[in-house]
Amino acid sequence: MYGLARPWLFRRDAEEAHRLVMERLGRWRALRGLARWLLTVEDPRLRVRLFGREFANPVGLAAGLDKHAEAVDAWPDLGFGYVEIGTVTPRPQEGNPKPRLFRLVADLAIINRMGFNSDGAEAVRERLLALGTRRVPVGVNVGRNRDTPNEAAEEDYRAAIGALRQVADYFVINVSSPNTVGLRALQNPSSVGALVAAAVAAAGGVPVLIKLAPDLEADALAETAAAALEGGAAGFVAANTTIGREGLAPSPATAEAGGLSGAPLRALATETVRRLYRATRGRVPILGVGGIFTAADAYEKIRAGASLVQVYTGLIYEGPGMVRRINRGLLRLLARDGLPDLTAAIGLDAKDGNGS
Ligand SMILES: Cc1cc2nc3c(=O)[nH]c(=O)nc-3n(C[C@H](O)[C@H](O)[C@H](O)COP(=O)(O)O)c2cc1C
Repeated sequence: MYGLARPWLFRRDAEEAHRLVMERLGRWRALRGLARWLLTVEDPRLRVRLFGREFANPVGLAAGLDKHAEAVDAWPDLGFGYVEIGTVTPRPQEGNPKPRLFRLVADLAIINRMGFNSDGAEAVRERLLALGTRRVPVGVNVGRNRDTPNEAAEEDYRAAIGALRQVADYFVINVSSPNTVGLRALQNPSSVGALVAAAVAAAGGVPVLIKLAPDLEADALAETAAAALEGGAAGFVAANTTIGREGLAPSPATAEAGGLSGAPLRALATETVRRLYRATRGRVPILGVGGIFTAADAYEKIRAGASLVQVYTGLIYEGPGMVRRINRGLLRLLARDGLPDLTAAIGLDAKDGNGS
């Protein structure tokens, strides 16, 4: 089916295509029943229990696709085990001027500089409250407003979390988007602990994870992770988009400013997961994200130390059948390796001497 829809979508501007899909997801309820029947994979070996919640499978929707919680009840019908909405900023804001989203088709990649376009925390809270019970865990990814200086960022994270804590199964503080000037400086080990601690205090018991950039050097990553744990972080999301541009096929889009996602990010994001897992000795869960298109890609992240994975760019290129293919493929890979379930695979390639 997506083989037919993709050319129709790819003829359009990328952000326009995104808008069309989001509108239809909200409307096509009848089709969604069929999708659920076709795309859901139920198997106890895929279940992961984290943060006091049950994840029916490890494949989640990454932040940025449903920024404003407009289609939360549709994603489980496509087979997702959980959804991360956002980034949500405390006050509504427009984001960067368009165009700000670019496909790099030859590279199976995207460059974006959306810049946290957000309906704001209150609107998102209302939408999530209106949903009532949810079929999968819903994480809420939060960021600071563009016009808030880093010195006052703590207040923004507190405000967003305070507004959304009744509707979040976990929070992610996003300090790694390359599209809000200065944001990545919040990863600095000297200040990140206090930021996390403030977020944890505002979250009232809801776990707070922190999303990190794939561009941190190994030592800086380890220091940031240690400081975040000190501040009470319940886990990590690794990784956000990269500012690197290595190995891309020549095309005008490669010169666009923004964060690169998709296939060219895969190995770097996996390495970030592995380094985090090693640096923290697997003490807290890692949500692995970056360049996942296949079951083998997801399995690579899990064996490097991820307890759950997320996808964004893969879904754009592969379509919704991808989630089912990943889940079914993971079952095959577990059987191949003689592992009883998914949790037995977490971090196997991060132990001494394994992996790169
Ligand atoms: C268009 C676009 C918008 C994104 N917006 C956000 C965002 O608002 N917050 C966030 O934490 N990550 C955001 N991301 C990053 C993704 O969540 C993910 O970390 C990254 O794209 C790598 O995964 P992928 O290769 O599967 O796309 C965005 C990615 C894309 C492509």
